[in-house]
Amino acid sequence: MNKLPSIVFATNNEHKLHEIRMMIGDRYNVLSLSDINCHDDIPETASTLEGNALLKARYVKHKYGFDCFADDTGLEVDSLGGAPGVYSARYAGPGHDSEANMRLLLDNMKGVTDRSARFRTVIALLLGDKEVIVDGVVNGEITTDPSGQNGFGYDPVFRPAGGSETFAEMTDSEKNAISHRRRAVEALLNKLATL
Ligand code: IMP
Repeated sequence: MNKLPSIVFATNNEHKLHEIRMMIGDRYNVLSLSDINCHDDIPETASTLEGNALLKARYVKHKYGFDCFADDTGLEVDSLGGAPGVYSARYAGPGHDSEANMRLLLDNMKGVTDRSARFRTVIALLLGDKEVIVDGVVNGEITTDPSGQNGFGYDPVFRPAGGSETFAEMTDSEKNAISHRRRAVEALLNKLATL
């Protein structure tokens, strides 16, 4: 029987793990951080999404020796010069409070007519001696008020281009079919197929 190669996804977020395992299927045995007994608070101190994804993947590869990939996501708003970007989780402070983050974003955009924005997920992959970066983007705009109950984070104020609903008004499967994370994972799978 062929043993699947193992690869670590540097997360303990069960939702992300499940999503990735479904997409990667039987090509790799995807391990979480707790599967490899890593309970460290991995630093995310870089000033870019790429930098943070690389920091996390390199930490696991160097300390634990596993092939590994890690992600980082940000909401980039054009009229705010790309903010909150890499600071999306802690835009309103270190508490990672989604409600406060959304309120601050809407306050900072009061009266702003250019509301274009994008979610961007970066994945850093360390496989053998190779380091590869891929990303996935969904373009859209920031609404003037929150709408919808589903999802998390900034979903109630982000409306993907070409649609009339915010991410929070979509079902999980509608969002996951077009999301930045889905697109980044597809780019990762394409890359894995060529390595
Ligand atoms: P992470 O890198 O996946 O932890 O994402 C960083 C932050 O970006 C999260 O804490 C959320 O505030 C925001 N974020 C990431 N993905 C999404 C999404 O799909 N919808 C809404 N907000 C998101």
